[in-house]
Amino acid sequence: MKAVYILEQGGPEVLLYGDWPDPVIGPDEVLVRVRAAALNRLDLYSRSGEKGVRIATPRILGLDFAGEVAEVGAAAQNRLQPGDRVLVDPNVSCGRCDACLLGHDEDCPDRVSLGITADGGYAELAKAPARNAHKIPEALSFEEAAALPIAFKTAWRMMVGRARVQPGETVLVHAAGSGVGSAAIQIARLFGCRIFATAGADWKLERARELGADEAVNYTEETWPDLVRALTEDRGVDIVIDSVGASLWEGSFSCLARGGRLVTCGVTSGHRVSLHLGRLFTEGQSILGVGGLPNSDFPTIMKLVQRGLFKGIVHAVLPLEQAQEAHRLLESRNVFGKIILKV
Ligand SMILES: NC(=O)c1ccc[n+]([C@@H]2O[C@H](COP(=O)([O-])OP(=O)(O)OC[C@H]3O[C@@H](n4cnc5c(N)ncnc54)[C@H](OP(=O)(O)O)[C@@H]3O)[C@@H](O)[C@H]2O)c1
Ligand SMILES: [Zn+2]
Repeated sequence: MKAVYILEQGGPEVLLYGDWPDPVIGPDEVLVRVRAAALNRLDLYSRSGEKGVRIATPRILGLDFAGEVAEVGAAAQNRLQPGDRVLVDPNVSCGRCDACLLGHDEDCPDRVSLGITADGGYAELAKAPARNAHKIPEALSFEEAAALPIAFKTAWRMMVGRARVQPGETVLVHAAGSGVGSAAIQIARLFGCRIFATAGADWKLERARELGADEAVNYTEETWPDLVRALTEDRGVDIVIDSVGASLWEGSFSCLARGGRLVTCGVTSGHRVSLHLGRLFTEGQSILGVGGLPNSDFPTIMKLVQRGLFKGIVHAVLPLEQAQEAHRLLESRNVFGKIILKV
């Protein structure tokens, strides 16, 4: 088969397009003829080694992918048939350890992530455990489907699992054009929240409003926290959804209402911050982290996708051979939603 792989970490030029042996499936696995693979920021780090992400090479990158089932292992034939249209949840847990049996598969010590610790979706064929492959509705294109897994699993875990969002709360979603941000806006809308979105370019603010944000603020303006506070009559927001980290920390914290929850899943702009502990406890606020993403959230997300309540936001579709270009485009930040490699 053809695939995009890396032999070493580095700039976009280390992404090589060429021949690779076809994957061989086990009894619990499916072989997927990949039609679309979506980029995540983590793909950039896996490729470059930034943020301390070290991966074993050679490796086929790509966490998120969708396609048609080409082959089903002997033990999985009650779940899927060849020809089924599926997307793949790339987080693979063992299903046998205490964490898995207790329903916390995100803490499984043997967890594998396709595209990082095993080969992923930048390829004509990819394998996955059958339980990680989910059928997709006919109306959903492979490109839209591939845009869903990591963005929605992360945003759902932040909003629902960690912040425990309540209907009607006020939510500030940073980096509205990121995969995580564009999913968080849709989840906040589902809960009837008042949504503030931020981004670093005015054209993205417009897109955020179209997606459901009530107010959109450019965070390259230093006064953005004043604007958020003013728009909430100085009360602040109940929840901050942040993947950007250091550059927004002080502003985010200053916008947090009494009892507010700040949820972090990423440090795109940096990871060192300082914290006013006195304010945190007197205001009864919480800071919550999201690391692992439970597989158990995914069936609920897929139900909501099937009902048309969530959609994958596709910014651009490039052929698999242009993976280097796709990585450069994501690095440019001139993106709202996901970049897709079409296979
Ligand atoms: N913990 C988890 O399980 C988990 C899961 C998914 C993602 N993450 C993390 O969450 C972050 C977002 O991931 P994603 O895939 O959604 O990202 P993405 O789609 O690549 O979007 C990232 C956005 O961050 C904004 N940004 C702000 N400061 C930036 C800076 N200094 N450099 C680059 N971009 C900056 C940019 O938007 P503007 O140009 O509008 O500022 C950019 O478009 C990443 O750090 C990722 O590693 C963590
Ligand atoms: Zn386990």
